Amino acid sequence: MKFRGGGNCGSCGLRELPANPQPSQIPCVCACKPTAIPNSLCFCLQGLGANGIRLTMESALTARDRVGVQDFVLLENFTSEAAFIENLRKRFKENLIYTYIGSVLVSVNPYKELEIYTKQNMERYRGVSFYEVSPHLYAIADNSYRSLRTERKDQCILISGESGAGKTEATKKILQYYAVTCPASQQVETVKDRLLQSNPVLEAFGNAKTLRNDNSSRFGKYMDVQFDYRGAPVGGHILNYLLEKSRVVHQNHGERNFHIFYQLLEGGEEDLLRRLGLEKNPQQYHYLVKGHCARVSSINDKNEWKIMRRALSVIGFNDSEVEDLLSIVASVLHLGNVQFAADEQGNAQVTTENQIKYLARLLAVDGSVLRDALIHKKIIAKGEELVSPLNLEQAAYARDALAKAVYGRTFSWLVNKVNKSLAYKASEPSEEKFPGWRSTTVLGLLDIYGFEVFQHNSFEQFCINYCNEKLQQLFIELTLKSEQEEYESEGIAWEPVQYFNNKIICDLVEEKFKGIISILDEECLRPGDATDTTFLEKLEETVKNHPHFLTHKLADQKTRKSLGREEFRLSHYAGDVTYSVAGFLDKNNDLLFRNLKETMCNSENPIINQCFDRTELTDKKRPETAATQFKNSLSKLMEILMSKEPSYIRCMKPNDAKQADRFDEVLIRHQVKYLGLMENLRVRRAGFAYRRKYEVFLQRYKSLCPETWPTWDGRPYDGVAVLVKHLGYKPEEYKMGRTKIFIRFPKTLFATEDALEVRKQSLGEALTLAVDFFVKTTKMQATWRGFYRRKKFLTMKHSAITIQSWWRGTLGRRKAAKRKWAVETIRRFIKGFIYRNHPRCPENEYFLDYIRFSFLMNLKRNLPKNVLDKSWPTPPPSLCEASQLLRRLCMQNMVWTYCKRISPEWKQQLEQKVIASEIFKGKKDNYPQSVPRLFINTRLGEWGLQSLTGGRKGGLMNSFLAGNSFLTPHLFGFNTGREEINTKVLQALENEALKYAVPVVKYDRKGYKARARQLLLTQNSAIVVEESKIKQRIDYSNLTGISVSSLSDNLFVLHVHCEDNKQKLRLSTACLPPLVLSLSPVPYSRVVGTKAMILKNGLSFQGDVVLQSDHVIETLTKAAILANKINNVNINQGSIKFTVGQGKEGIIDFISGSELLIAKAKNGHLTVVAPRLNSR
Ligand SMILES: Nc1ncnc2c1ncn2[C@@H]1O[C@H](COP(=O)(O)OP(=O)(O)O)[C@@H](O)[C@H]1O
Ligand SMILES: [Mg+2]
Repeated sequence: MKFRGGGNCGSCGLRELPANPQPSQIPCVCACKPTAIPNSLCFCLQGLGANGIRLTMESALTARDRVGVQDFVLLENFTSEAAFIENLRKRFKENLIYTYIGSVLVSVNPYKELEIYTKQNMERYRGVSFYEVSPHLYAIADNSYRSLRTERKDQCILISGESGAGKTEATKKILQYYAVTCPASQQVETVKDRLLQSNPVLEAFGNAKTLRNDNSSRFGKYMDVQFDYRGAPVGGHILNYLLEKSRVVHQNHGERNFHIFYQLLEGGEEDLLRRLGLEKNPQQYHYLVKGHCARVSSINDKNEWKIMRRALSVIGFNDSEVEDLLSIVASVLHLGNVQFAADEQGNAQVTTENQIKYLARLLAVDGSVLRDALIHKKIIAKGEELVSPLNLEQAAYARDALAKAVYGRTFSWLVNKVNKSLAYKASEPSEEKFPGWRSTTVLGLLDIYGFEVFQHNSFEQFCINYCNEKLQQLFIELTLKSEQEEYESEGIAWEPVQYFNNKIICDLVEEKFKGIISILDEECLRPGDATDTTFLEKLEETVKNHPHFLTHKLADQKTRKSLGREEFRLSHYAGDVTYSVAGFLDKNNDLLFRNLKETMCNSENPIINQCFDRTELTDKKRPETAATQFKNSLSKLMEILMSKEPSYIRCMKPNDAKQADRFDEVLIRHQVKYLGLMENLRVRRAGFAYRRKYEVFLQRYKSLCPETWPTWDGRPYDGVAVLVKHLGYKPEEYKMGRTKIFIRFPKTLFATEDALEVRKQSLGEALTLAVDFFVKTTKMQATWRGFYRRKKFLTMKHSAITIQSWWRGTLGRRKAAKRKWAVETIRRFIKGFIYRNHPRCPENEYFLDYIRFSFLMNLKRNLPKNVLDKSWPTPPPSLCEASQLLRRLCMQNMVWTYCKRISPEWKQQLEQKVIASEIFKGKKDNYPQSVPRLFINTRLGEWGLQSLTGGRKGGLMNSFLAGNSFLTPHLFGFNTGREEINTKVLQALENEALKYAVPVVKYDRKGYKARARQLLLTQNSAIVVEESKIKQRIDYSNLTGISVSSLSDNLFVLHVHCEDNKQKLRLSTACLPPLVLSLSPVPYSRVVGTKAMILKNGLSFQGDVVLQSDHVIETLTKAAILANKINNVNINQGSIKFTVGQGKEGIIDFISGSELLIAKAKNGHLTVVAPRLNSR
């Protein structure tokens, strides 16, 4: 038989065993008789797993006299504190340290190692229903974890209790449980490591030896563990509460400073200590010897140092960060050794220069500034700085305040740093991307100080006990709520429970204006001489009538004796506590003189620099007091806890001597009271002592009723109804809920359990026989099944092999055929290539077809895009002729498509271009430049067009030829530029359609003076206009020819018939003076009519006209077409002669040069120097 401590009997698997049982205890504790009831029978009765490790809570009921009940709700006399404590004692004696009150776990510190935290034990609790296993914190941990996973609701486990009761150990054990049982992966392992390793670091800096606990946490801790959707821990976050900073500078007798100081001195390497200016001996440091127990045999500082250093690395500290951190630790020790002496005026002076030197180096500040700051006080009043020296007492206060501030802030920095290393780096979809999706759920662990009552209680106890009041309030509220919810969901009437609501005490402490914290703050902040005593007086004044508040002055004669004049008493839910007001104001103010703050702000130690923010100096607002900060952080904590589903672990210590197997009843009673356990039990037992799901209840007790034994086929509800009727339950003893049976009194359940025991005994022998028979038949069945299955297996194996080989053959044949085809194709191709130049024959047939096919396919992909595109793939020799045919066809097709797209305007444009080409191509130097420029109908006001048509070389023309049709016909109409012609000229031209207009320069024939004119071409004549005057009109019939040079100049001569030269213009109609018009008796219409007539008949001309146009090719092409003088355009080399009038002749000489130059030469000729544009 194998016994497992703290688990269940290895024989029957039913009984709960003491954690570390003595061999002699086992049979009697377990009460199972191995010979009478073999293992198999127990399983049979239980219907539980074959490993026999599970045990139900009910199983322990028969052994209750010895090991007590596992759940206090089963206590007969649940209102009796004595019964409660007796049950605890019984269990503690048997090393059963855990007991439930419903779902709350009560834990008693064993002060010895029990073998109940093994990996094997963790596995036992994994995924098992709460009541199937004996009470354990693993059951609480597993239950919360499962709720978190199945309901995806955040959970929290609240662990509370006195100092030394085992809260921190419980937290660590729960974390270990998750580390072992939760799914793992590389990333998760790192997080698990960091979660576990955060403990040694925070404990080194935040824990200390106290009288009650060698490793007492001197701060409250709330730790969130984040789990991903697979249930793996992926991150964490820690909140810390109220570090007991006063310990840095003072420790009570028998207590120590924070562990880190001793660890550093004991474990730090020689080199490191030298750098930090420290000696190995803690006795050298004032801050370490106040408690007179720097070295304690129960603490191995050297070992702890190693663990802490390793943990720092796991968390992600690099060497320089470690050095910075330890420099701060060392600086606190040096600060403690700073001494002062008074000068003649009584002002403090630093006497320990050496310490200042070290401090300056370690804190990376200016030594002299620090020294000054330690002995002076700086105040800013009305914008002015006032510096005053400190006396000895004040200097010591300032020094200690600095040490506390530096240490306290570094601790908060450390928590932040740990948080950064624990932060979850999400790789899954985030909540912002997918609203409603929660990638992680959170399980919080609260390890916070329990209720504290000392001989002398100060500010810290006040805060701690206030925190416990808040937690108690939350605890009662939530327990009541969940009870009520369960009753409701089960359809059972809720009977109101009487309980003490401690809201009245919470209000007394925290209420605005009237609460103790408000009054304390007011005293701290008010001007004048506020002292702890004035604070007490103010309290007496404000809350004197409160039933939970008492002072010496307010007490009656009898009670007064137990109260000092400097004390006040609060009646907490857990009992009365008397607080001394001494130090309340100082601790609440938590003051650090301004110049010390300034010095720290200038520190170059990166950690100190982050801890002391410059904004503190400029911030006009007073920093929040310690109590208000604590109050606010508590209220946030309450919010956090309220949003989660809570589980509770209530820790107790059995004695003050930290000894195993010592159960101090007085101490336990004290804690039962202070933890409010009786209250808790009363709430839980308000209605019914016991409740179970119908299935579970029926499974256990079905053997007690012939109708339900051995099986019940109907609904479990009906089965239980039949069962309880058979057992004779009275109506007031139980209630049937929707899914559970509720039993009011424990005695009803015990009677049922006893009946079951008897029943088991009587069934024993018969069942043994039955089991023997069952075993034998089972063996036979197994042999036959084995044979049958093997035969079947062999047939199937054979079939599988046949199918496999056939299918492999098929696949092989398919592959071979494919390869053969590939080889033949390649061979044919190579042969074809060799015979490619032979006439078509069977050898090259395939190759030639392939080549043709590829050429045609290639051609299809690479056909020319437009008529200008001359590309064409090179055909194979056998397709040359076909390729040419195709090319022609393709070109015809493109030309046809192109022509179809030509608009009438473009046709006209192209015709004009063709005529220009006929006239000028190869003859005039600047013809090529004109080719890409479109001919348009007006050049007046052409700035827009010019840039469009002339700006891009070959732009529009090529673009059109390429098939782009973005040009719109309005370019060729006469809308643009019409407004540039004077309206009088337009009126004179009347109906005569304007065909072309261009600005020109006219050279007069005598002095060759250049004058700006407009040249208008109509259907019948060319007209030279000067603003509103028509200067010359040349009927096309009179135009004998046009002369132009072969060079790049823009000059041309319109030769006019000689006779016409004699005609004189008597009246320039276009410039009829307004006077004439107004004086004339002839109506204006008639005058205009006369003008029109005169114009029609032609104006007077005096010889040929010498003009210059920037668009000479365009102008002359248009003129030649309109005047039908295409063949009369003469392109001259050298010079042009023209008629000046009355038989006189003028000569223009053209020569090539570098720049255009037009000037009258000495010989009277007009000389035109034209730049050479094209090399001919
Ligand atoms: N479950 C336990 N088993 C064995 N020893 C324990 C257990 N819980 C606590 N202890 C002992 O009690 C000491 C104080 O426990 P701790 O968790 O630090 O108390 P608290 O955090 O409540 O002040 C531990 O150092 C350890 O020696
Ligand atoms: Mg602790």
